[in-house]
Amino acid sequence: MDHGFDLTRHVREYHYDFATVVSDVMASTLCDVLRERIEGLISTGRIKLVDHRGQGTAAVSDSGGRYLHHIFEGDDVRRHLPELGAVYHAILPLVASITSQDVVVSPHARSDMNIKVYPPGGGTLGEHYDTNGVTVLLFLTTNREAPLRMQIPRAHPAKGTWTERRSIHATAGSLLIMKGREVLHDCEPTVNERKMTVVLNYYVRGDTWRHDSFDSFVYDGVPPSESVAANA
Ligand SMILES: [Fe+2]
Repeated sequence: MDHGFDLTRHVREYHYDFATVVSDVMASTLCDVLRERIEGLISTGRIKLVDHRGQGTAAVSDSGGRYLHHIFEGDDVRRHLPELGAVYHAILPLVASITSQDVVVSPHARSDMNIKVYPPGGGTLGEHYDTNGVTVLLFLTTNREAPLRMQIPRAHPAKGTWTERRSIHATAGSLLIMKGREVLHDCEPTVNERKMTVVLNYYVRGDTWRHDSFDSFVYDGVPPSESVAANA
């Protein structure tokens, strides 16, 4: 159900439920245009397919799951979908307001903006924590399957600690703002549908850290230990 924009609600949900969804940030007609362009680019075979499993380690905040999706890296987005660069900068004040943080754009060109396209028949992203401070996803498809799954850490003095599981299905044009560094999350595998997510990575001023091995693991499937050795 669409509640409209309510800053107080978004701030509360972000801080206490670790994520909030702002509806209708992008018009459905523009989502259609971008989706068509993305599909056309993938059909040319020039967009990388990430396909690995069991390579993640705690060093990169990953549980070692399966990764299967096409990926547009930062330069691919800048070259082919410049509209998203405008969105990335334009919504920064919105992201700062909802998170109550001094939010900055990413200094990392490969990972500042990405598009992940999960193909039908097993497209997925393994359980992990994000390394950047503030995670924002803009959905370009509406899906009845392949939700984002969150494992929300809960604690109460009388009840101890537990994990609350929550699934959020994609709605085209909506924006998810999440504490990706604090909540373990993954993308449930697709069955029949294709899912398209624009990943907008933000940081907090003074903390733009990114693990040295992270991009070669996420994009190229290089195990973190090998990557560290290769860099040493
Ligand atoms: Fe993530």
